Amino acid sequence: MSKKPLILGIETSCDETAASIISENDRGNPIVLANIVSSQEDVHKQFGGVVPELAARSHIEKIDWIVKKAIDNSGIRINELDAIASTAGPGLIVCLSVGLSFGKALAASLNKPFIAVNHLEGHALSPMLNSKLNYPYLLLLISGGHSQYLGVKNLGKYKRLGTTIDDAIGEAFDKTAKLLGIEFPGGPQIEVLAKKGDPNKYNLPKPIFNKGGCNLSFAGLKTAILKISKEIKNDQEKFNLAASFQKTIIEILQKKTKIAFTEFERQIKPKEKKFVVAGGVAANKEIRGMLIKICKEENYEPIFPSIELCGDNAAMIAMVGLEKFKLKKFDELDYPAKPRWALDEDALFLKGAGVKL
Ligand SMILES: Nc1ncnc2c1ncn2[C@@H]1O[C@H](COP(=O)(O)OP(=O)(O)OP(=O)(O)O)[C@@H](O)[C@H]1O
Ligand SMILES: [Mg+2]
Repeated sequence: MSKKPLILGIETSCDETAASIISENDRGNPIVLANIVSSQEDVHKQFGGVVPELAARSHIEKIDWIVKKAIDNSGIRINELDAIASTAGPGLIVCLSVGLSFGKALAASLNKPFIAVNHLEGHALSPMLNSKLNYPYLLLLISGGHSQYLGVKNLGKYKRLGTTIDDAIGEAFDKTAKLLGIEFPGGPQIEVLAKKGDPNKYNLPKPIFNKGGCNLSFAGLKTAILKISKEIKNDQEKFNLAASFQKTIIEILQKKTKIAFTEFERQIKPKEKKFVVAGGVAANKEIRGMLIKICKEENYEPIFPSIELCGDNAAMIAMVGLEKFKLKKFDELDYPAKPRWALDEDALFLKGAGVKL
């Protein structure tokens, strides 16, 4: 029996320092041997958001022992690794540089291949760690910095069908939380508070709801929340606003996902209808519930990463590394950090005032 590949993944694109080791079982399914994630919540809490310089410093302080812990937990020896995969972008350049340099140096010292990974491709492939998934599939990527519908045709081959023209959904959750006085990172807390509120209390705007195909927009929603939040007098009103905000996001995603289904079928012509939802916001149970419901109605198979693999982690980076390793897609040691790195590099830039939809 041939030796199964052992891949180390390293992630430092924003405020999580993470390392993971994955391999494959005899059926060719990935297995996670170690998955260490160290969040910097405490570092950034007092500033209400991620401070790049502090984030980079924290990555530098932790990267050695996080990687060592991943190796120790996996029970393998470091020289048994077959390749090292690091996130090269998109993200904060001072943060990316830490994991990228560490990964390159380790690959060079062990004389093993180095693989540069697109963080968004990590999210896109994250469900492969717990479900069988073949190409093509429709992907809804909803994270802190991105909100996109993409046709995933193959490894590295993406067709963007729709994107946010301003804020990402995770960003809208985080900004709403901040306006409601919830400590950073507040996004996940909105889901908790929304349970205690009346979702029909506030009628919030749904920008580009009736135009723009499956493109998305959340900036107008944020402005409305800003106005209302100034008049909030008690906790119940706060819960009501959280619930109304979440309901509005769900209504927008419900309508836009149905349009994305049609576009996916028209542009990609898939044999099977599979819908993957990934990124930090995919952890939201109300959003999951609605998306599962419309998948049933439209005959799509819904596929989600496990909750702990929705947010940033290195297992998803190692997963891309494993797929590239099997195809011998290696990178040189001068591979640059890429703060901007779209999955579909041919898609038009659709952000800012004056965008024509
Ligand atoms: N239960 C939840 N409900 C809503 N939003 C959530 C929930 N859990 C996490 N999020 C949001 O997910 C985001 C974090 O996701 P992720 O770690 O994938 O983003 P990121 O890595 O910062 O951005 P990107 O992947 O686009 O570079 C945050 O904006 C956070 O508020
Ligand atoms: Mg992410």
